[in-house]
Amino acid sequence: MTILVTGGAGFIGGNFVLDWLAEPQAESVVNLDKLTYAGNLETLASLSGDSRHVFVHGDMADAELVTRLLAEHQPRAVLNFAAESHVDRSISGPEAFVQTNVMGTFKLLEAVRAYWGGLASGAQQAFRFLHVSTDEVYGSLGPGEAAFTESHRYQPNSPYSASKAASDHLVRAYHHTYGLPVLTTNCSNNYGPFHFPEKLIPLMIVNALAGKLLPVYGDGMQIRDWLYVKDHCSAIRRVLQAGRLGEVYNVGGWNEKANIEIVHTVCDLLDEMQPRAGGLSYRGQITHVTDRPGHDRRYAIDARKLHGELGWKPAETFDTGIRQTVSWYLDHPGWVARVQSGAYREWVQAQYGQAA
Ligand code: NAD
Ligand code: DAU
Repeated sequence: MTILVTGGAGFIGGNFVLDWLAEPQAESVVNLDKLTYAGNLETLASLSGDSRHVFVHGDMADAELVTRLLAEHQPRAVLNFAAESHVDRSISGPEAFVQTNVMGTFKLLEAVRAYWGGLASGAQQAFRFLHVSTDEVYGSLGPGEAAFTESHRYQPNSPYSASKAASDHLVRAYHHTYGLPVLTTNCSNNYGPFHFPEKLIPLMIVNALAGKLLPVYGDGMQIRDWLYVKDHCSAIRRVLQAGRLGEVYNVGGWNEKANIEIVHTVCDLLDEMQPRAGGLSYRGQITHVTDRPGHDRRYAIDARKLHGELGWKPAETFDTGIRQTVSWYLDHPGWVARVQSGAYREWVQAQYGQAA
């Protein structure tokens, strides 16, 4: 048995593939990734020589390639992690987001629909298409508002979240119209190992250690609901195993924190684990910079459906997860140095200018 994963060289897809294959009896994985700036084969280096992992460098929007992979490997499930995922990049260059997240998902769905339609009835019933999505499709919450449930109105505010919302709608429509056996997960902010250092937590760790400024957008009081990446991966495995067809499951850690609190925590952990020469705190490197346009103020996930129906709950608290994350970055300076390519440096310069 095989599963096909798209975007498995990225942050969450990479962690998912590593965790999946950590099980000795695991089904093999065909990993289709375009290796954009966010895809990194080094994340998968520990799988080198493992015949259960087949890496394919390619685009999920390449119908011919996907059709061939499906025919050749006959997966019993397709899990779609591939996306353009960074909100700030979607603001400065939205087209790639529409291309990848909307058109890419559409092309993938078409190839999968044709494959699924040709399966024998037992295989057809067992097949699953799992789409990995985000809480950002629900928009922004006010201070006292209840956390997002699965029936919350879609109100995406950035080109990124709008493109993810469009992909969610396509997935839903392929179930409703064609009967494709789909599952969708909408998760809150992840953090953990192999996170590309353009996102808040890894950027703060990496900048702090390099003696650079720690750029906090606006007042830093925007709230996100943080989940350790391996808990997201376990939720996806559980939904794949037992989720009801056509259903949406919200995934979150009941862990709302303001950005400034996150940055303080990172600084305090670094002060403890790798103190600055001279004894000053890393907090001294914090600087408030111009806010993100259209910045969503608050996200919070209500994960009761996933817990109640499928018995999932996170294994890590924020305290344990963030400590492991900071340790991981301290232990992997080589990984960080190699992902900080020339293209990445250009992005940092364009985004942060003098504060870079
Ligand atoms: P990421 O940017 O780290 O990785 C995306 C991966 O997709 C990269 O390896 C990239 O090379 C690959 N890719 C991009 N376009 C492709 C294409 N056309 N064909 C094949 N591969 C392609 O993203 P991530 O943070 O790992 O997010 C994975 C998924 O989870 C995304 O769909 C994202 O919307 C969703 N999500 C992310 C978070 C988060 O906090 N990071 C939270 C909730 C949901
Ligand atoms: O909520 C889930 C989403 O979380 C995912 O769908 C996205 O793919 C993922 O990138 C993430 O989006 P965010 O915009 O919330 O993550 P980011 O790490 O970019 O920013 C987190 C918060 O920190 C946000 O309020 C913006 C702020 N921020 C970010 C950066 C990069 C800063 O204050 N300074 C920064 O330099």
